[in-house]
Amino acid sequence: MNTFPKTKAAPRDLSRRSAESEWLDGADASAQELALVLRDLARFNRVMLGHWPVIDWLRRATKDAGRERALTLVDVGCGYGDLLRAIRRWARKRGLTIRLIGLDLNRETVRIAQAVTDDADEIDYCVVDVFDFAPPAPIDLVVSSLVTHHMSDDLIVKFLRWMEGTARKGWLIYDLQRHPVPYYFIGVMGKLTRLHPMVIHDGRISVARSLTRTEWLMRIDEADIARNAVRLRWFLFRFAIGRLR
Ligand SMILES: C[S@@+](CC[C@H](N)C(=O)[O-])C[C@H]1O[C@@H](n2cnc3c(N)ncnc32)[C@H](O)[C@@H]1O
Repeated sequence: MNTFPKTKAAPRDLSRRSAESEWLDGADASAQELALVLRDLARFNRVMLGHWPVIDWLRRATKDAGRERALTLVDVGCGYGDLLRAIRRWARKRGLTIRLIGLDLNRETVRIAQAVTDDADEIDYCVVDVFDFAPPAPIDLVVSSLVTHHMSDDLIVKFLRWMEGTARKGWLIYDLQRHPVPYYFIGVMGKLTRLHPMVIHDGRISVARSLTRTEWLMRIDEADIARNAVRLRWFLFRFAIGRLR
């Protein structure tokens, strides 16, 4: 049983980014409730084909990678670890040797991710703020899914710069588009798929906190990254913003 009230979508001004906090960012969640929310968020990502754009980008990023040299990939804000497990399944099918590291600043989230990850998946998790992360080895690829909307505009610029300086082969940001369609759609989908009310609650705030295409281009400029080096793809009201070297 969850203790959350049912949420109704209030009409909202989506012309600018919201500063409203998500429940997930608060410190008052019980471990049990957090596990349920993370599990349902992973389920929603799966239903929305959320891993596909990342795997598709990885396919391109690794197309010339030799099988013998291990690559290292970091997933920033890995949450439940479902993206890393999907990457492991994909890499196994491809015969690709890849070291996987998941970072998240929430200790309990990392504990939950570790608990649902099989040892055979060989994923290292680390409780750390990405900006304090000292990589144990050079990093080839950085991905991050549904994380940047948690950051301020200034932090997003800092994050872009961090990825530019850290990822030797490339990086990918995958996040929502601020738009009325996903804002209202999440309520309908949530009811149909019986999502935890907090996933619906946070989902709406996430959309309202997210960036538009124009705002992404502005952040890329502010990070001093050449626009033509970055590929910004739209996929079902989400953006995959990637850079390959
Ligand atoms: C909405 S969840 C997304 C989880 C997962 N990546 C997914 O796609 O479902 C955002 C996660 O990013 C983490 N996070 C936010 N800012 C972070 C930072 N500066 N460093 C590391 N993790 C961060 C949060 O703790 C949270 O678990």
